[in-house]
Amino acid sequence: MPQLAQRMSRAKPSAIMVIADNAKRLKAEGRDIISFSIGVPNFLPGAHVYAAAREALQHDSGQYGSNRGPDALLDAFLAHLHGLGLDGYTRANCSTGVGAKHVLYNLYEALLDEGDTIAFPTPYWTSYVDIAEIVGAKVQLLPCGPEQNYKLTPAQLDTALASKPKVFLFNNPSNPTGMVYTGDELSALADVLVRHPHTWIITDDIYNKMIFDGLEYRNFLHYQPALRDRLIFLDSLSKTYGMPGWRMGFMAGPEAVAKAVTTLNSNHITNVSEIVTAAAIAALTGPQDVPTARCAEFAHKRDQVLAALNAIPGVVCPKPQGAFYVFPDISCAFGKSHNGKRISNDVEFCAALLEAKGVACVPGSAFGEPRALRISYTCPTPQLAPGMQRIQEFFAELS
Ligand SMILES: Cc1ncc(COP(=O)(O)O)c(C=O)c1O
Repeated sequence: MPQLAQRMSRAKPSAIMVIADNAKRLKAEGRDIISFSIGVPNFLPGAHVYAAAREALQHDSGQYGSNRGPDALLDAFLAHLHGLGLDGYTRANCSTGVGAKHVLYNLYEALLDEGDTIAFPTPYWTSYVDIAEIVGAKVQLLPCGPEQNYKLTPAQLDTALASKPKVFLFNNPSNPTGMVYTGDELSALADVLVRHPHTWIITDDIYNKMIFDGLEYRNFLHYQPALRDRLIFLDSLSKTYGMPGWRMGFMAGPEAVAKAVTTLNSNHITNVSEIVTAAAIAALTGPQDVPTARCAEFAHKRDQVLAALNAIPGVVCPKPQGAFYVFPDISCAFGKSHNGKRISNDVEFCAALLEAKGVACVPGSAFGEPRALRISYTCPTPQLAPGMQRIQEFFAELS
């Protein structure tokens, strides 16, 4: 057989999917499994979204569409940006894709030549590294452990940008930590960014409507509007609107970048689907009661999960204020044994927890922080307390 391309030796399947598949396999074998592994919102969009999709079927043009996205979709996205306090963009600043992951992939292609560096804080969302490996970009990690609440400091950013990475990628609220930067923290980081004009900035803000405790969504642009000519804002319907499988992502940024992403679209997807487009417009411009109610529910679940974790001696968990993840430091378990099985790292911890208690979590090393694990708490409410109780039991049984 002829060889696959070199780049495929660097590409690997998502670590999160590997855990999710293991949990599925055990479930199929009849085990009682509670999954805290996959980052899906686990709710469905409002009825008006389905109505819009059905309506679109009645008027299907049957044609290829715009590579950038149809005007009505771009206008709905611009209205959404306005709602976030991000004004001054036009359709020419925007583009779309098959989910934010696809738009991000396009941005890597558009901004990074092979060997260029992309810098981002650790813990990071897994695909940030995986996509870099495929496109041949170098990764510069900025470690932000639990001792600094998983947050990047201005001094760290200043040092990192001194070496002039081509792109700085920033995720707020964060997957996997759920941390949300305050306005003051963003403002201080934005002041640093202004001093380093050679670096593109991507803000992955796809959890912008999943923020708790009365905190407001903020972006660097709210503090330093001058960053607009090199900042790209990334968004998605997946989490906010309960639409991960519909696949719709967006970007807003400099016209040249939006044009580049659109050109890449013209060479692979051609266009986002007409039916999904209609649903997306309805989601963005229609009633917001579903996302609002789910966000309140997630805040409540966060409280439950955090209380259960804080009751475990030795576990340290900075308080998340957004998204739907908690990221406890569980390194107190390393070096101990469960049922005679020694646990020396996060991967062994998660494997033993799944095997012994049927609870699936993702090892922190998948996100660059091997002291932690990620709990995604969007499971049906009745599973949450038993799942957390099993984790508590697991810790209590360590020797
Ligand atoms: C931080 C972050 N960015 C981007 C994405 C990709 O979202 P989408 O479903 O729109 O591709 C995810 C999905 O888990 C995410 O957590």
